[in-house]
Amino acid sequence: MFFLTAIFLGTIFSSVYATPYSYATWAANSAIARGQGNGLSNGVPLVAYDHGEFQWALRLLYERDGNERYLDYIMTGANNIVYDNGTVHGSYNVSDYVLDPLRTGPTFLYLLNITGESKWNIAADIFRGQLNSHPRTAQGQFWHKLIYPNQGWLDGIYMGEVFYAQYTHDLQPSNITAWDDIASQFWLMFSNTIQNATASNNTHLMYHGYDYSHTAVWASPDRGHSREVWDRALGWYMMALVDVLDILPTSHPGHAVLLNILQTLTPQVRDAADRVSGVWWLVMTQPGREGNYFESSGSAMFVYALLKAVRLGRVQDTNGSIVAATRKAYEYMVQNWIIPDDNGTMSWNNTVVVGSLNLAGDFDYYISQPIDLNDLKGIGAFVLASIEYEKL
Ligand SMILES: *[C@@H]1O[C@H](CO)[C@@H](O)[C@H](O)[C@H]1NC(C)=O
Ligand SMILES: *[C@@H]1O[C@H](CO)[C@@H](O)[C@H](O)[C@H]1NC(C)=O
Ligand SMILES: *[C@@H]1O[C@H](CO)[C@@H](O)[C@H](O)[C@H]1NC(C)=O
Ligand SMILES: *[C@@H]1O[C@H](CO)[C@@H](O)[C@H](O)[C@H]1NC(C)=O
Ligand SMILES: *[C@@H]1O[C@H](CO)[C@@H](O)[C@H](O)[C@H]1NC(C)=O
Ligand SMILES: *[C@@H]1O[C@H](CO)[C@@H](O)[C@H](O)[C@H]1NC(C)=O
Ligand SMILES: *[C@@H]1O[C@H](CO)[C@@H](O)[C@H](O)[C@H]1NC(C)=O
Ligand SMILES: *[C@@H]1O[C@H](CO)[C@@H](O)[C@H](O)[C@H]1NC(C)=O
Ligand SMILES: *[C@@H]1O[C@H](CO)[C@@H](O)[C@H](O)[C@H]1NC(C)=O
Repeated sequence: MFFLTAIFLGTIFSSVYATPYSYATWAANSAIARGQGNGLSNGVPLVAYDHGEFQWALRLLYERDGNERYLDYIMTGANNIVYDNGTVHGSYNVSDYVLDPLRTGPTFLYLLNITGESKWNIAADIFRGQLNSHPRTAQGQFWHKLIYPNQGWLDGIYMGEVFYAQYTHDLQPSNITAWDDIASQFWLMFSNTIQNATASNNTHLMYHGYDYSHTAVWASPDRGHSREVWDRALGWYMMALVDVLDILPTSHPGHAVLLNILQTLTPQVRDAADRVSGVWWLVMTQPGREGNYFESSGSAMFVYALLKAVRLGRVQDTNGSIVAATRKAYEYMVQNWIIPDDNGTMSWNNTVVVGSLNLAGDFDYYISQPIDLNDLKGIGAFVLASIEYEKL
């Protein structure tokens, strides 16, 4: 423990130009030093999916390094949004029927596993209860939000299904209906949004979302899909695939469904990387177009998902081209998006703040959204990417 503490302090106080022993640790410690991902927003409790994403990364760091500081931080963050009686607060309201908050649910399940405290079980049950009455399309896809009827967004797969799968694994392992449903969520999203052979600017990847009723302003008349492939939406989906494949039993037929999707998408993601920089465009369907740029959260998500897929043998990388692509991307990230601060922390640049399908969902919309320094959605993904990279 002393050794690990010494390394942590060393990272914080070392010369800003020294290469840290672990970018994963440096990025996580920097976000913690800024008080990010702790269940609060400006001091007020908030159930926020990026906190769930970051806590997932901290958990992996805790399991890797044994540093209790990460477990304490996860616990503090979860306690900020769950009362002692297990009620979830922090602006959470079941009746809103939004998938986003559920991404903090895996943290509750993790803490239930570690502490055995019933409050975490109650909190997880509240989120699980939402899914039982969450509105769906006629095919069975969860709506992204009640206020967006019949819309499935790729983002929602990461927000909803990682929790749904972890809950089923931990508390209802023999609920076949639930496992079927989880696999179906991935499949419906894939089949409704994948670019088909005749798509223009074909990346053979998935559009940001679809409207099963074909009424949204951005919905294509034939299939209802949105207009562009947005890097972070696909990043969420790819991370959900590799994470849920660890949770879904291999004996369930849904495992092969997810594996097949992952094996289809992985080479396409590799090939969509910019040839010079190695990273990915914000709007992947319009590479090089004026106003488009290399976006850091989606890029980090792809590095995490591709490296994890190869490491676990989910995808064969016979000639090494997938790992080579992620190495090139990772090196670009470290050189261009990490900014050492004077006080020993690092900052992370070029993460787009938001990408929604609530407006036109066209190229001009995506590129008009601001980028931010130290956006947790991006830092969380960079910690995850670094954890995988550091296993190479
Ligand atoms: C370190 O410096 C950066 C850049 O000036 C700043 O954003 C951050 O809040 C500082 N961190 C701490 C813990 O003071
Ligand atoms: C749980 O505790 C909170 C805060 O003390 C309280 O407002 C709420 O009514 C309690 N809920 C239940 C179901 O007891
Ligand atoms: C939750 O949302 C429902 C429906 O919008 C509303 O009627 C209810 O008052 C909300 N509850 C709280 C505690 O805000
Ligand atoms: C806790 O997690 C470990 C590792 O996934 C698992 O083996 C164990 O069954 C879990 N325990 C409970 C009570 O969920
Ligand atoms: C199993 O999962 C299904 C689908 O989510 C759900 O409707 C059902 O209530 C679950 N079964 C139990 C025993 O909770
Ligand atoms: C493929 O997608 C394009 C664009 O959405 C559409 O025009 C075409 O009908 C689709 N073809 C099939 C076979 O789905
Ligand atoms: C296809 O991509 C090019 C280059 O990025 C872009 O200029 C063009 O507008 C795109 N076409 C469509 C239909 O999106
Ligand atoms: C590696 O194999 C893939 C096909 O699986 C091919 O597309 C790619 O060009 C190959 N890359 C190299 C560097 O040989
Ligand atoms: C972040 O990147 C943008 C360009 O994408 C640049 O204008 C800005 O100066 C960078 N921020 C820092 C703190 O270097």
